[in-house]
Amino acid sequence: KNFFHCFGCGAHGDAIEFIRRYEKLSYPETIEKLAREAGIPLPQPDAQESRRIEAEKTLSDVLEAACKWFERQLASSSGASARDYVEKRGLKADTLRQFRVGYAPDERTALHQHLLKEGFPQALQAEAGLIILPEQGGPYDRFRGRVIFPIRNPSGKVIAFGGRLIVNTANKNLPKYLNSPETPVFKKGEVLFNLDLAKKPARDGNMAVVMEGYMDVVSSFQSGIQYAVATLGTAVTPEHLRLLWQLSKEPVLCLDGDAAGLRAMMRAAETALPLLKPGFSLRFAILPKGEDPDTYVQKHGKAAFEKILMTAHRLSQVLWEALSPGFTLDLPEGRAALEGTLKKLADTIADPTVKSHYASYFRRLLWEKAGAGRAAGPERSSHVEQMAAQDPMAAAEKLAGRLLTLLLRFPALLYKEHRDEVVAQLDIRDQRLDALRQALLTSLEQVSEDAFAAHFSAQFPEALAAVSDIDIKLPYREALSEQDAAALWTETHKAYIRAHLIMECRELEESLPQALQDEASYHRKIARIEEIKKMQAHNFAPVEPDAA
Ligand code: UTP
Ligand code: MN
Repeated sequence: KNFFHCFGCGAHGDAIEFIRRYEKLSYPETIEKLAREAGIPLPQPDAQESRRIEAEKTLSDVLEAACKWFERQLASSSGASARDYVEKRGLKADTLRQFRVGYAPDERTALHQHLLKEGFPQALQAEAGLIILPEQGGPYDRFRGRVIFPIRNPSGKVIAFGGRLIVNTANKNLPKYLNSPETPVFKKGEVLFNLDLAKKPARDGNMAVVMEGYMDVVSSFQSGIQYAVATLGTAVTPEHLRLLWQLSKEPVLCLDGDAAGLRAMMRAAETALPLLKPGFSLRFAILPKGEDPDTYVQKHGKAAFEKILMTAHRLSQVLWEALSPGFTLDLPEGRAALEGTLKKLADTIADPTVKSHYASYFRRLLWEKAGAGRAAGPERSSHVEQMAAQDPMAAAEKLAGRLLTLLLRFPALLYKEHRDEVVAQLDIRDQRLDALRQALLTSLEQVSEDAFAAHFSAQFPEALAAVSDIDIKLPYREALSEQDAAALWTETHKAYIRAHLIMECRELEESLPQALQDEASYHRKIARIEEIKKMQAHNFAPVEPDAA
């Protein structure tokens, strides 16, 4: 039919377009090649036309010229320290050639001058991100004193550069890696380093791996892992995922085994969830602490690294493992909180089939863990515990209300045992209860024990009215001695603390997903949750300090 069409990506065109894209040629090159093959003579371009084409230098041309120049610098006498460096990092000559690794000498304008001589105007050099135009002074080269890794597009054209500092020759204040800025041909969030070389091996083996550094990709490539790509200092974007899913149904994200790796994993998971389709997902390979793909593969070799990739964790599993340790699964409220958190995540999945699979997977795990928790968990039967388990916040408020009402009936209690401090510290969210608390504390300051009742009812009638509205059941005054009232206060306060801890625990659990953005706060929260769990396991009895 004289055209081609790809139902996968929508690429479409005629025979010339097919050859142009398949062979990665320019349009004139394609015509020349086809004409040659078909034995058709081409008209000679007229002189004016060829001058025009010559003058029309593009971003792509200047980037290619810069790439060639960087490559030459690495081979030249000024590139000795850079050659030393790449050799120390274990890169072989073949690899350097394949990735077109180069060197930007530590000079202000060497590249700029060279490109001017080649006829590339200053504005084009700046647009390509190769030089910087400061407000004061002349233009200067962006990359200086760095090993250069060209960044290529899917058809192999150079679109940007990354430069690695050669540590011992350079100022320590400079960033270790420097990338080209965004340009019309380079959008960081849409580019995967090495996609052009990796796509065939990845498709052939239905295996793609994403790394964090391009040095990791180059090093892995050299060790025989040719299906690796890297993001360019950004988190994984939806566009990255789209590209990756063209290579493999379950690309593997390879992360460092540290807290930053955990954060990157949660971020990638959150990006991926809404985009999941049946059969298309992500997996996560976690390297041992302190290793990255480069160091790991150089130390242990291809087979060991591939073993890690083969055992990469599934996205669903990773979500469960990252979140469930923070929840008290042996209590119904802990299970409910985790269930809610997981449901919120599953609800971000747009595809209904995938969503229902995630939901049932999480339900099954919750069921298994809940079963284990029931068997191992302590017996608890008290009414307060039951109430707290269902709604700890309501339970805590109710108990705080009881404490205040008890003081209202037995004001003498308020004047003893620092109970005013306890009252001041109660975590009360109900406004009327809070007003009652304020009234109690104010009266305490204003009058003595004997005058309290009269003073309070004269000064704070609305607080009194609120108490009857709040409906807090208390034994009649006549039925209680002051001693009994003090004992009741102590019991009620203990119950309040229990309910409040359960509430705190639940709130911490609910805030865990957001806390993953901040390592320190995540660990603080997990630690506090574990502390509360421990107290709960001892039925909230004060923990005895270790005899040792
Ligand atoms: P890493 O610092 O993890 O890179 O940064 P690496 O590959 O282990 O570096 P070596 O082994 O010390 O050479 C990973 C990626 O983050 C971006 C780069 O894209 C890098 O490849 N990055 C890092 C920057 O853009 N700037 C930096 O200063 C550091
Ligand atoms: Mn590294």
